[in-house]
Amino acid sequence: MTQDTVKVWDVLVRVFHWSLVTSFAIAYLTEDDYQDVHVIAGYVILGLIIFRLIWGFIGSRYARFNSFVVKPSTALSYIKDIKNHSAKRYIGHNPAGAMMVLALIFSLLMTTLFGLMLYGVGEFSGPLAGVMMEVSKSTAHDIEEIHEFFANFTLFLIVLHILGVISASYQHKENLVVSMLNGKKRANATSKEDAS
Ligand code: HEM
Repeated sequence: MTQDTVKVWDVLVRVFHWSLVTSFAIAYLTEDDYQDVHVIAGYVILGLIIFRLIWGFIGSRYARFNSFVVKPSTALSYIKDIKNHSAKRYIGHNPAGAMMVLALIFSLLMTTLFGLMLYGVGEFSGPLAGVMMEVSKSTAHDIEEIHEFFANFTLFLIVLHILGVISASYQHKENLVVSMLNGKKRANATSKEDAS
């Protein structure tokens, strides 16, 4: 028997997602020994995040922020529902997943912006080199610490993100990873508009 499916993630969201996974892995693994590669991967991440911010306003239905961004209290009560095994199934991001998407985007943006600043101070390179020229050694040190903090914080969020994806997949008996590959989900669930 075939099940009805709905198209949820458009091709650009999927290309964005897996390019982000790849470029984050490359940036994280090359930071010590291959600075040129690290910097290129960082630029790619920044470009992807800027694209996603724009796509969040003009993209397809489930890519738009207004289709999934909820109040923090809604996300918290959704997390309680998960504990009680009564969490609703969503076609787009569920409220907890939506908070995670925003947290990941924010943390990646901070990581790349502080990375650009550091590149300007340490190497006198990149678009911020001119602005960062006068920065003191101790400020440069702080920028480096902040860049590293956000890179590690992003990694922490990624672990939670993957656990969340696995947990939601089990809970609703569907493979969300496959959905992020082929863009489709089983029909007959709730979207933010008709969940409340
Ligand atoms: C192999 C590891 C990963 C898997 C299996 C995975 C899986 C997924 C899945 C299934 C979704 C859709 C969630 C839903 O249905 O609501 C998603 C969304 C998302 N993931 Fe991942 N993910 C992985 C790694 C990452 C990493 C490393 C990052 C960040 C660097 C990331 C950032 C995001 C973002 C930003 C979204 C939102 C997509 C959008 O709306 O544009 N993911 N991920």
